[in-house]
Amino acid sequence: MKVTTATAHFLWVFLASISHSVICSTLRNETDRLSLLEFKNSITLNPHQSLISWNDSTHFCSWEGISCSSKNPPRVTAIDLRNQGLVGHISPSLGNLTFLRNLSLATNGFTGQIPESLGHLRRLRSLYLSNNTLQGIIPSFANCSELTVLWLDHNDLAGGFPGGLPLGLQELQLSSNRLVGTIPPSLSNITALRKLSFAFNGITGSIPGELATLSGVEILYASSNRLLGGFPEAILNMSVLVALSLSTNSFSGELPSGIGSLLPNLRQIAIGINFFHGDIPSSLANASNLVKIDISENNFTGVVPASIGKLANLTRLNLEMNQLHARSKQDWEFMDSVANCTQLQGISIARNQMEGEVPGSLGNFSVQLQYLFLGQNQLSGSFPSGIANLPNLIILGLDYNRFSGSVPQWLGGLKTLQKLSLSTNSFTGYLPSSLSNLSHLTEILLDTNQFIGNIP
Ligand SMILES: *[C@@H]1O[C@H](CO)[C@@H](O)[C@H](O)[C@H]1NC(C)=O
Ligand SMILES: *[C@@H]1O[C@H](CO)[C@@H](O)[C@H](O)[C@H]1NC(C)=O
Ligand SMILES: *[C@@H]1O[C@H](CO)[C@@H](O)[C@H](O)[C@H]1NC(C)=O
Ligand SMILES: *[C@@H]1O[C@H](CO)[C@@H](O)[C@H](O)[C@H]1NC(C)=O
Ligand SMILES: *[C@@H]1O[C@H](CO)[C@@H](O)[C@H](O)[C@H]1NC(C)=O
Ligand SMILES: *[C@@H]1O[C@H](CO)[C@@H](O)[C@H](O)[C@H]1NC(C)=O
Ligand SMILES: *[C@@H]1O[C@H](CO)[C@@H](O)[C@H](O)[C@H]1NC(C)=O
Ligand SMILES: *[C@@H]1O[C@H](CO)[C@@H](O)[C@H](O)[C@H]1NC(C)=O
Ligand SMILES: *[C@@H]1O[C@H](CO)[C@@H](O)[C@H](O)[C@H]1NC(C)=O
Ligand SMILES: *[C@@H]1O[C@H](CO)[C@@H](O)[C@H](O)[C@H]1NC(C)=O
Ligand SMILES: *[C@@H]1O[C@H](CO)[C@@H](O)[C@H](O)[C@H]1NC(C)=O
Ligand SMILES: *[C@@H]1O[C@H](CO)[C@@H](O)[C@H](O)[C@H]1NC(C)=O
Repeated sequence: MKVTTATAHFLWVFLASISHSVICSTLRNETDRLSLLEFKNSITLNPHQSLISWNDSTHFCSWEGISCSSKNPPRVTAIDLRNQGLVGHISPSLGNLTFLRNLSLATNGFTGQIPESLGHLRRLRSLYLSNNTLQGIIPSFANCSELTVLWLDHNDLAGGFPGGLPLGLQELQLSSNRLVGTIPPSLSNITALRKLSFAFNGITGSIPGELATLSGVEILYASSNRLLGGFPEAILNMSVLVALSLSTNSFSGELPSGIGSLLPNLRQIAIGINFFHGDIPSSLANASNLVKIDISENNFTGVVPASIGKLANLTRLNLEMNQLHARSKQDWEFMDSVANCTQLQGISIARNQMEGEVPGSLGNFSVQLQYLFLGQNQLSGSFPSGIANLPNLIILGLDYNRFSGSVPQWLGGLKTLQKLSLSTNSFTGYLPSSLSNLSHLTEILLDTNQFIGNIP
């Protein structure tokens, strides 16, 4: 009897635990289904019928855009509904998908706030909400300890720079929103960061020195904000940096003289439209992988360092709108050196203080050159003959200089030319008939010269 009672008791507990687990698992997978249906209900426009399969005739794991774990019961692990034209708000019910690892709703028409409940998804690894019109403040993701990718760019998000970030975050993409306020020094704790972009916002203040701890950052885009201060010291500790943009801010002061040696992996540097002054550090050329350099619209002075020719992979060099000068033969040496940049596609030295004749070494420039801007200097002499060796030019600007003499017949041989500006010089004589061969030409500026005759 006793044994039977014990057995019965054991069986009862055993059966109870089975039924309990059955109820639980049914509830759990029912939660996922109901959460998804609630999400669907908050979609007001579904132009590609992406959610037509989201109905009771199919298991939710077969619904379009849904991936599940193969465990029993299956749970939703990924939602990928990017670029589906969906309009609506993001239902907080997604916060109930406790097994969700990847969520992409990028490039749709989602409005409203990012639900705080997404911050409860402890297994979340990647969240892509780019290219929507989401509003409000960015909720805390501090509890999403597995989150490595957070892309919120191209929305209408407001408030301050997000503070609640998990320590393992590797990519933080916040560009093109309406974020204001300063960069919190606590960002320095997110030492796993590799990509950091907050370009096109209203961020103020300086880049905190504490961020020197982010030594693994490879991409830093901070352009078009209201940042100020000298060149951020913290950046000099990001020795694996590949791409840096600080353009269109209010940075000032001189560039650190060792910049190229401290950032040897740089491929792109864009610091245009700021208030930097002083010399262009010749060490820049120590970053031998540099492909693009843009230091335009600052107040740089001195000569262009001749070391620039060491950059074998340079394709774009934009130095325009500074106060760089070249008077003596020695000052012009950089032209000889740039001829070594065999990949060069575009160069601008427009609106500086370059004087005298353009060196013949222009004719040794890469035949790949497409853009050549020499305008708004004090250049003189005849039409630069070296240009004849640049058969792939698309835009040529010689405007606002003191060039004289006639326009050469060979100019009509630059078949790819689309824009030509000779405006405001002292060119004379007839325009060469060959110009009529320039079948791609869309813009030609000839005013304020001493031409005679007709336009061919
Ligand atoms: C339900 O989804 C299936 C595809 O899974 C689809 O073929 C069917 O048309 C849908 N039913 C309705 C009523 O939309
Ligand atoms: C829930 O799980 C049970 C058992 O694992 C399974 O039989 C059932 O099909 C699942 N239901 C849903 C809606 O996933
Ligand atoms: C999901 O979570 C919300 C709160 O975020 C709650 O109100 C709702 O009842 C939950 N839905 C399901 C199906 O569990
Ligand atoms: C989920 O995100 C992780 C991290 O970003 C990525 O490695 C993985 O390929 C993604 N999986 C799916 C199914 O999208
Ligand atoms: C956002 O849209 C742009 C094109 O406008 C696209 O290149 C980019 O891949 C989109 N972002 C995401 C995360 O899908
Ligand atoms: C993170 O988790 C802790 C512990 O569960 C909780 O107290 C806290 O409110 C959570 N924070 C957020 C932002 O969800
Ligand atoms: C970094 O995190 C630690 C521990 O959470 C905290 O004490 C410290 O204040 C944080 N550092 C900054 C600069 O916020
Ligand atoms: C600079 O980066 C190194 C790792 O490359 C790190 O050990 C050091 O603490 C960082 N310096 C500062 C001031 O954070
Ligand atoms: C860096 O550049 C400077 C100036 O061009 C040069 O003197 C120095 O040797 C270079 N250093 C390295 C490590 O290449
Ligand atoms: C230039 O680029 C090529 C191919 O990307 C690379 O192999 C080479 O090392 C680069 N050269 C320099 C000097 O960085
Ligand atoms: C540039 O420098 C010149 C002379 O050094 C100075 O007069 C001028 O105000 C500066 N301009 C800017 C925008 O900083
Ligand atoms: C450019 O190449 C020539 C040889 O073609 C070499 O003498 C000169 O030192 C090079 N200049 C630079 C800056 O690399």
